[in-house]
Amino acid sequence: MESKRPVYMDHHATTPVDPRVLETMLPYFSETFGNAGSIDHVYGAVAADAVRKAREQCAHILNASADEIYFTSGATESDNIAILGVAEQYASKGDHIITCVTEHKAVLDTGKHLQKTGKSVTYLPVDKYGLVDPSAVEAAITDKTVLISIMTANNEIGTIAPIKEIGKIAHDHGVIFHTDAAQAVGHIPMDMKKMNIDLLSFSGHKIYGPKGIGGLYVRSSSPRVKLSPVMFGGGQEKGVRSGTLNVPGIVGMGKALAIAEKEMGKAEKQYRQWTTQMFDSFKDVYPSVMLNGHPTKRLAHNLNVCFPGIESKALIHLLKDDLAISAGSACTTTSVEPSHVLLAIGRTVEESHSAVRFGLGRGNDGDDFHFSIDMIIKCIQAIKKIS
Ligand SMILES: Cc1ncc(COP(=O)(O)O)c(C=O)c1O
Repeated sequence: MESKRPVYMDHHATTPVDPRVLETMLPYFSETFGNAGSIDHVYGAVAADAVRKAREQCAHILNASADEIYFTSGATESDNIAILGVAEQYASKGDHIITCVTEHKAVLDTGKHLQKTGKSVTYLPVDKYGLVDPSAVEAAITDKTVLISIMTANNEIGTIAPIKEIGKIAHDHGVIFHTDAAQAVGHIPMDMKKMNIDLLSFSGHKIYGPKGIGGLYVRSSSPRVKLSPVMFGGGQEKGVRSGTLNVPGIVGMGKALAIAEKEMGKAEKQYRQWTTQMFDSFKDVYPSVMLNGHPTKRLAHNLNVCFPGIESKALIHLLKDDLAISAGSACTTTSVEPSHVLLAIGRTVEESHSAVRFGLGRGNDGDDFHFSIDMIIKCIQAIKKIS
């Protein structure tokens, strides 16, 4: 992926499809186009075999079994299936769900929907770094709690939650634990055997795979998690997610995860160095700059900062020919509302309107990195002069 202008640094919103992924996917559009459910002939059998291989690739990076992976259209759908599926399946046991205020809308709005149907949802607060306190999770559990859903890594500020600890608490209380790991899988190690996770959502387009494909890990033993389907049809994916399988997408996501498994450690080191250096450079020219998120428990490729007194929309607009960055979540960029994540960590409305998120990625090289710092500093100085 050669660097071009504007330099793309919005890899939390989406990533480009890796050429190795694209190459693996291409035959499944027109040459070997079979329906993976039509295994009575060679076209379907070839597609089914490709899906089987991809399922193994997804399972491998999660240290799970292939039969614990369910394909969906993305992390949004996985979150919905997990939360709604548990709420309905375990309704006779209880009607209470615990989540947290900084979750993605795919979790928050699913919770809101459940509240309208009479369920009870607790939205836990976070500290100034965006961390949810495991003891607060434990304190919120009642005898009616059926699910805890806490994201692994925040899509705006990159904070990584103490997932293993929260999962242990859930298990000690006999509660199912779901995590939205759309920003984590393929970026940091995720081990289903060690991390006490029962349900985990992931997405193809956050890891250099295609859009419109995702997955849900569902624990098959100790405990075996059951999900009521939220939509109905041909009964694919063991009835949990009906609909013809997106074979090219599945093949692409499998390949993307296989690549990520090999390469993530190396990339992380480089990203950590770049994001640290970026923040230090900003601090030199704009001492009031604030880091959003945890200083160390964070995604290495994420940097989210507030430049108090500078409207981030103005900065992003000024930079648009040189640098593609965003003010926050892609799902809420059209909104004038301040980020719910930044407000939750204690930023004021004004401060949150000065936030800029950098998401470094595979396409960025050292030149991009230095160029970006120079451009941002230039723009900040220009804005400072005008104001
Ligand atoms: C944490 C998180 N959850 C869910 C999603 C939604 O993923 P998808 O686009 O695959 O539906 C995103 C994407 O922005 C995300 O960052």
